[in-house]
Amino acid sequence: MPRDNRPDRKPASPLAGLGAYPQLRMRRNRTVPWLRALVAEHRLAAADLIWPVFVQEGKKAREPIASMPGVERLSIEALVDAAGAAAELGIPAIALFPVVPIEKKSADGEEACDPDNLANRTIRALKREVPEIGVICDVALDPYTTHGHDGLLRDGKIVNDETIEVLVRQALAQAAAGVDIVAPSDMMDGRIGRIRQALDAAGHEDVALLSYAAKYASCFYGPFRDALGSRSALGQGDKRTYQMDPANGDEALRECALDIAEGADMLMVKPGLPYLDLVWRVKQAFAMPTFVYQVSGEYAMLAGAVERGWLDSERVFMESLLAFKRAGADAILTYAAVDTAKRLKAG
Ligand code: PBG
Repeated sequence: MPRDNRPDRKPASPLAGLGAYPQLRMRRNRTVPWLRALVAEHRLAAADLIWPVFVQEGKKAREPIASMPGVERLSIEALVDAAGAAAELGIPAIALFPVVPIEKKSADGEEACDPDNLANRTIRALKREVPEIGVICDVALDPYTTHGHDGLLRDGKIVNDETIEVLVRQALAQAAAGVDIVAPSDMMDGRIGRIRQALDAAGHEDVALLSYAAKYASCFYGPFRDALGSRSALGQGDKRTYQMDPANGDEALRECALDIAEGADMLMVKPGLPYLDLVWRVKQAFAMPTFVYQVSGEYAMLAGAVERGWLDSERVFMESLLAFKRAGADAILTYAAVDTAKRLKAG
């Protein structure tokens, strides 16, 4: 891997270095919109987008999330409608996050494995009512644990192998409910291989595995934890014994290599914009389907500035999402998926 950001696959153009001002004027290709369109190297399409959604119990159709302007928690019914609209806009898939009622949370997060929990009921409703949209579901315990961690806590430590046993049962319950892609976001070692084996043994060989492989211990997940009510659960705790240190880049490549060997179908880099170097490096290194998550804190920064009139909503989201494409991302999880798809459709 080259240490700098120059592409190592594309050789330099044979014309590079030959032209010089005033014969060469780079602005010539930028003079008019049609020419700019012809020379554009990357393009964003609705087909690149995955919409992360929050589902909650009860009849109340929608409830705003203070730290994510424009994002709402939806009831199953409202989500089914919204998913239908998203599919119509050309969004290929949604990523589902359940808001688990406090009384269903426990130290061991056992609710995660209940075939009739909120996530699994939602998966069934979506696959029944909107079969044309792909459904991705997180595999991790944090929405279900009273301590807010992604794994089991024993004597103050997150225990890896015991956690995997629960994650396997969680993934199996989601597969039985009809999920298309399971997305382990927990960062336990070895879980991809174990989940793959278990899915295959249960006849779910078509259920795909999207590994949150390069997932960092990031402050940018704050608003997401508000949305789920897991921030107060986690309190002063952090996830640094399992999520990656933002100081490290090479380590992300090792995480990806291991998950590929264990059977991951797609890789994820998360967060997005602050980790664009990793999107680039992972795509270059493995040529695997590489997804990126524009996480809640990134969304909050942009949407917050838009709310204050400091940034233009359409332009700033288009630009940030295009940056992911330029870095090599195949698909982008973004809370702005629906607005973006509408804007792309309007042209
Ligand atoms: C849970 C999970 C998190 C996100 C996705 N899955 C939060 C965390 O790891 O604490 C964050 C998504 C976002 O911030 O938008 N394992």
